[in-house]
Amino acid sequence: MRKKLNIAMIGYRFMGKAHSNAWRQVGHFFNLPVDPVMKVICGRNEQELKKAAEAFGWEEYSVSWERLMERKDIDVVDICTPGDSHRPIAVAAAEAKKIVFCEKPLANTLGEAQQMLDAVRRNSVMHMVCFNYRRAPAVALARQLITEGRIGNICHYRGTYLQDWIVDPNFPRVWRLEKAKAGSGALGDIASHSIDLARYLVGEITETTGLLKTFVTERPLPGTNSKALVDVDDAALSLVRFESGAVGSIEATRFAAGRKNFNRFEINGSKGSIAFNLERMNELELYVEEGPNSGFKTVLVTNARHPYMAAWWPPGHIIGYEHTFTHTVLDLLKAIDEQKLPTPNFEDGVRNQKVLDAIERAAASQKWQVVGQLA
Ligand SMILES: NC(=O)c1ccc[n+]([C@@H]2O[C@H](COP(=O)([O-])OP(=O)(O)OC[C@H]3O[C@@H](n4cnc5c(N)ncnc54)[C@H](O)[C@@H]3O)[C@@H](O)[C@H]2O)c1
Repeated sequence: MRKKLNIAMIGYRFMGKAHSNAWRQVGHFFNLPVDPVMKVICGRNEQELKKAAEAFGWEEYSVSWERLMERKDIDVVDICTPGDSHRPIAVAAAEAKKIVFCEKPLANTLGEAQQMLDAVRRNSVMHMVCFNYRRAPAVALARQLITEGRIGNICHYRGTYLQDWIVDPNFPRVWRLEKAKAGSGALGDIASHSIDLARYLVGEITETTGLLKTFVTERPLPGTNSKALVDVDDAALSLVRFESGAVGSIEATRFAAGRKNFNRFEINGSKGSIAFNLERMNELELYVEEGPNSGFKTVLVTNARHPYMAAWWPPGHIIGYEHTFTHTVLDLLKAIDEQKLPTPNFEDGVRNQKVLDAIERAAASQKWQVVGQLA
């Protein structure tokens, strides 16, 4: 009999649904070293929670995350709530000696993220942050090709994360537009993904510039006629320098009309280039110097030899967004079994937050800022 791990997940909407699907599916497709048990789903509204527990397949529900920490039968705490609750939940989970899996960005501020890292280190518990795009097979393949030296020494990273869901000025002031809940706007929400991909594929960022812009500064409060202040950025732009000598740009916006989840990067090296776009996530654009007829080609990343793909369908039978979460929990479960720290973990979360912090400082000072070192 394989060991069982009881999961408690907090938050039951967008990420709650995506994580539930991942916990439910992972054992149906991959040979797992340990079996996750979808034990408790947690939130604040009992009626909604009951529905979510039934729909997603959780054994129990609870309206108190604090009470979960007292339970000896909970092994993993999976945090799918807005950023303002990440620190209290993660620190309590670490103190209760639970494994902590937390959505990105790790916290709303660098200080909170550091406290979370201190707590998991102090309590010697496993930790992981859900920068799930590392686990798109095409992104994992890009990393393999870069590591093998196929595109040579990297000169450029160009990361753009473009959405358009708040172009309408009457779109309500939801929690993602409130600094107290979200920490920042496009910066923490989506530039953080581009930063994680940059760190995963190119290496550490050492210096940044920053430009933050809010186009609509007041929006209707949901369900009312009154307006409330928008105190986060709608768009975030930055030039970056990498430790390796590469240079890059990162642009994240929720005002790119027509773009839905256009998470794209292009990397140019001395021998070739690689480009990826989440909206075409089964494909990797690859250019390598091969004589006079060389040019960009599109690799369909669905063969059994491609990362994660042997577990899914025959070649050409594509996979989707939700699989990135399934692959993430797969690697978390493997790491737990092997007693190895998975990546990206809270150290990566803090390093990411240091870049976000440097971009905010750069935007305020209108000067290049150094990215702090990990303590
Ligand atoms: N990895 C990704 O690609 C990705 C995508 C979207 C969101 N996220 C991250 O996931 C987290 C959640 O975002 P979401 O889109 O699922 O939000 P959401 O609004 O869809 O859901 C948030 C959930 O948290 C619950 N909640 C809020 N405050 C709480 C509290 N104090 N205690 C208990 N429950 C609370 C809400 O009731 C809701 O169920 C955020 O950190 C966000 O940045 C990550």
